[in-house]
Amino acid sequence: MNERRAADASDLTVDEQLSLLSGADFWRTRALPEHSIPSAMLADGPHGLRAQLEATDHLGLASSVASTCFPPAATLASSWNEQLVHEVGEAVGREARALGVGVVLGPGINIKRHPLCGRNFEYYSEDPLLSGRLAASAVAGIQSTGVGACLKHFAVNNQEHRRFVIDAIVDERTLRELYLRGFEHAVRHSAPRMVMAAYNRINGDHATEARWLLSDILREQWGFDGVVVSDWGATANRPAAVTAGMDLEMPGGAGTEPALRAALADGTLDPAHVALSAQRVIDLAVQAQDAAAEPAPTMAELLESHDALARRAAASSSVVLTNDGILPLTPGTRVALIGAFAEAPRYQGSGSSLVTPTRLTTAREALEAAGFEVTYSPGYEPVRSALTPMLAAEAVEIARDADVAIVMVGLPGIAESEGFDRETLALPAQHDALVEAVAAVNPRTVVALSVGAPVLLPWRDGVAAIVLSYLGGQASGGALADALLGVVEPAGRLAETWPAAQSDVAADPYFPGGLAQVHYREGLFVGYRHATTVGVAPAFAFGHGLGYGSSEWGAASASSASVAAGGSVTISVAVTNTGDRTRHELVQVYAHDRSGVVLRPRRELVGFARSSLEPGETRAVAIEVAADALRFWDARARDWALPRGSVTFEVARSSEQIESVVEVRVDGDALDSVEPPHTAAIAATDEQWAHRLGRTIPAPRPAKPFTRESTVGDIAHTLTGRALAAAIARMMPVSDDDKDDPASRELIERTVAELPLRGLAQMSQGRVSWKTVDAVVAFANGHPVAGLRALLRRG
Ligand code: BGC
Repeated sequence: MNERRAADASDLTVDEQLSLLSGADFWRTRALPEHSIPSAMLADGPHGLRAQLEATDHLGLASSVASTCFPPAATLASSWNEQLVHEVGEAVGREARALGVGVVLGPGINIKRHPLCGRNFEYYSEDPLLSGRLAASAVAGIQSTGVGACLKHFAVNNQEHRRFVIDAIVDERTLRELYLRGFEHAVRHSAPRMVMAAYNRINGDHATEARWLLSDILREQWGFDGVVVSDWGATANRPAAVTAGMDLEMPGGAGTEPALRAALADGTLDPAHVALSAQRVIDLAVQAQDAAAEPAPTMAELLESHDALARRAAASSSVVLTNDGILPLTPGTRVALIGAFAEAPRYQGSGSSLVTPTRLTTAREALEAAGFEVTYSPGYEPVRSALTPMLAAEAVEIARDADVAIVMVGLPGIAESEGFDRETLALPAQHDALVEAVAAVNPRTVVALSVGAPVLLPWRDGVAAIVLSYLGGQASGGALADALLGVVEPAGRLAETWPAAQSDVAADPYFPGGLAQVHYREGLFVGYRHATTVGVAPAFAFGHGLGYGSSEWGAASASSASVAAGGSVTISVAVTNTGDRTRHELVQVYAHDRSGVVLRPRRELVGFARSSLEPGETRAVAIEVAADALRFWDARARDWALPRGSVTFEVARSSEQIESVVEVRVDGDALDSVEPPHTAAIAATDEQWAHRLGRTIPAPRPAKPFTRESTVGDIAHTLTGRALAAAIARMMPVSDDDKDDPASRELIERTVAELPLRGLAQMSQGRVSWKTVDAVVAFANGHPVAGLRALLRRG
């Protein structure tokens, strides 16, 4: 009883409450021991833990304690396996317990609007249903251990370009149906303890200050009752953020308490909001402390089983993109193993999610251990993949007389990182050339791809098989051996469309936008929603993956002829394993709205189910589709609506491979047609765009005069800007291992350039004061007197 009363915000002074609203340091919430309020430790991953006990940073530059590096989200998503995602979440939670971490900063569930987004490897899918369901499983898995999970980055954070300042202009319907829907599902179904407000703005409002987003939608409509934390350095106006419902500012030391006190004094901040946020932070820390009091295994006890789980997860999530029958391979095969990734694996992306693995299994050692007779040649140098014809020539030589050539290619580490987007969908030229040269001398060429996002595969029809490993985590080498041998079926299905050309991506002309804004003119038409509506054939479709063996599907049936609001209908199909090995099948159900009320993507995923079948076995796979999944966001009524009419359910192996269809009547709302039927999918003209937005197109913020929101790059041409960029780069806490790593260097360069000037105070933990920030702004604007005055300011 006493304890409960001690942890009540109303027992604290206003100053004590305010102190809880920002972190104690880079990773911890603030404790108030005199009130028995503990501190909670937060840590990235989330495909493992980046627990930093010494130097701290938000870019994965300083070192962290070793933890199991599971496959990142892009890989795991290809499993479409909620149980597996739960299991990995649970394992991450157990390691969090062992390392004293109270909240894991993940999963990240932003929609993959464009395959070039630099952080796509950290996200699940282009589809909100799949993202939302996997996120709910990850959260449930992590939280089953008593550790909290944090959904991020809320919301509309779909690119790295100018991520701290960019304003995402998106219409309300697209926001609700695509960008918020996965978050909604995960919040409603798994009750995460934390949600992270993103860096960017949405329709003019900073995500950290958007009351409509953090309070109205997240808390009131979806019932979220946890803590909203800022992304690291994402808070622009602290009092406005508290009012909006953004409880905890991270990292600590941003020096925003004076601004909060001033806002309380002048009445612009309601003390009730402060108390409420303080209470949420207290509850989070107390929960973390309670969980930590339970006995838990140590890291040493977890290592073996978690490494095995990482291996199984990576192998079973791998996607067989093509296979002329060469796979699975048999042990004893004489293989030419080609590609430096066989010894220096690409197994995770760079940035804040970077995990220091507990061990690393390479493909070379794993294939040898699995009984292959291996000759090896690197083919390229792994860091930059610059053209080195000598290496390629040597590889071709060993490929010539091998039974099978396994070529490991993909993106070098420098291409995939938080902090910047990729510039091209192409693989490094050396990798393409290597595959072509090897395939020319050995038709039995199997390509194993290590990438965190789609790439172009110009040689895709010229090789015997392509296995997509994505980024396999620390056991990626063993996983590849297991997948190639079929010890574990590579049962993955793509969670994103692999376009045949960059110009096939609807968002491409608008991505990544300008200096101040990015316009989401393609609306709902992202990934397969676009491909199936306009009829562009992708290289590999959303949902595609061959697995091993074969199957036959019967005709689909529906449990009833109609469905009404609040109800559901079950779609069933009989699936038979016609092969001679156990096979994992994935049944996908897409909806085709026939009501004609509103322009909808031709196909939208409304359900899926996995099933494991023994040879010869037949199973009825049943997928329940709630009527809610058929609703659209009616921007006129600002509410969800179920259009009356009919829907065709398409039972499919991928968004391009429909096996059978069944039509169901929808007893929904009688609605007038919302849009003229000719309305284009993509709002290419300003008129269409304004119509879809329901207002005039907002003008971008002017670049000048410079403000606290201007970036270091924006003022780079000024004397002040140049001096500043050099000083910040020197302050970055890079570990010895990473000092010479080009990906880390690029990350630093890009991050420094993109940092808003306010970030100097927010990210320096008190080393840079707000008056220095204001002085920099004034100097950059060419006002030295105002700059000096700012420096001499008191407080
Ligand atoms: C990233 C977050 C991460 C945080 C803390 C930010 O730069 O966007 O995903 O959780 O840093 O490292």
